[in-house]
Amino acid sequence: MENIENLKSQILGDISNAQDVRTLEEVRVGVLGKKGRITEMMKNLGSLSLEEKKEMGKGLNILKSEVEQALEAQKEKLEKAELNARLAKEKVDVTLPIRPEVQGRIHPVSKIYEEVVAIFGEMGFEVAEGPDIEDQFHNFNALNTPANHPARQMQDTFYIPNPESDNFDDSYVVRTQTSSVQIRTMEKQQPPIRIIAPGRTYRSDYDATHTPMFHQVEGLVIDKNITMAHLKGCLYDFVKAFFELDELPVRYRPSYFPFTEPSAEMDIGCKKTKTELKIGAGTDWLEILGCGMVHPNVLRAGGIDPDEYQGFAFGIGMDRLAMLKYGIPDLRTFFESDVRWLKHYGFLPLDESSMTGGLSNNGGAAR
Ligand code: DAH
Repeated sequence: MENIENLKSQILGDISNAQDVRTLEEVRVGVLGKKGRITEMMKNLGSLSLEEKKEMGKGLNILKSEVEQALEAQKEKLEKAELNARLAKEKVDVTLPIRPEVQGRIHPVSKIYEEVVAIFGEMGFEVAEGPDIEDQFHNFNALNTPANHPARQMQDTFYIPNPESDNFDDSYVVRTQTSSVQIRTMEKQQPPIRIIAPGRTYRSDYDATHTPMFHQVEGLVIDKNITMAHLKGCLYDFVKAFFELDELPVRYRPSYFPFTEPSAEMDIGCKKTKTELKIGAGTDWLEILGCGMVHPNVLRAGGIDPDEYQGFAFGIGMDRLAMLKYGIPDLRTFFESDVRWLKHYGFLPLDESSMTGGLSNNGGAAR
């Protein structure tokens, strides 16, 4: 067996010599991988005498943890350097005048945002806001989703360490849902409440209908004598106004959310293939929102008496609305910043959305 001290200085030397993350990974595999040097030595312990085994085993364990620490530290250092180099290289001077060949367009999501605010504004909703970086209380606990609640696993959450606490429960999240704004609103305001909260949300998810950053619009209505019938009517009026179609196939399905009881989801009838998405045709359904009657625990957490007030809430996927309205089959293309895509699907800057002027007064996407 090799002398542990020699081996240690060799490995630590290799680690500090590694100048990029890939080389460092090669060093790690060579030492701690399935056939790595330390792994092999550990496998061979069986052939030693009891006394030797004891001593060597202890030495190897210490070596292994020292090597792991050194790898971790070097990795952090290299990643930081790589990020800084990338940030320096990708620096953009936003004060430069625009190039005449690139005519700016409004992104479909920005357009949808304006349309949603115009429609709900007409119905008497105010716009409320909350932070993108949230604490777990507003994003989960107050929404009837305590730390060990199984519904936490419905969303793949990005957690952010809290520099002031090692306790995981104190870590922050990038909000997984705009539902956090329900709580922030109730904390500030007593009923009657009628708000929408459009904004960015984040989850570790990536496929044709999911991206790590996406947009939701939350709705919250709290008053005396609010019923599920109000919820249905409000959402139906919204989708009719939004999609501007006389015949719109809409379906409510019973569902589950910890913060509403009963809960439902709404789907829009469409035809869905890999390359095409067509609203109102075909036999497929695309889910666009979750909704329900606000759970009494949520009202209590927001400082509202559930014996006196009740309400409904909903959370709409705004990007899904854009996909359906403009027939864009893959959500990932929204965030690739491809100028050709923006030219095709984007809107002219002065094309404003209003209920009186007509939502899509320019006949939809400017081509
Ligand atoms: N927050 C839910 C989600 O992101 C959506 C949702 C469902 C919001 C029901 C609501 C609601 O306000 O009542 O999946």
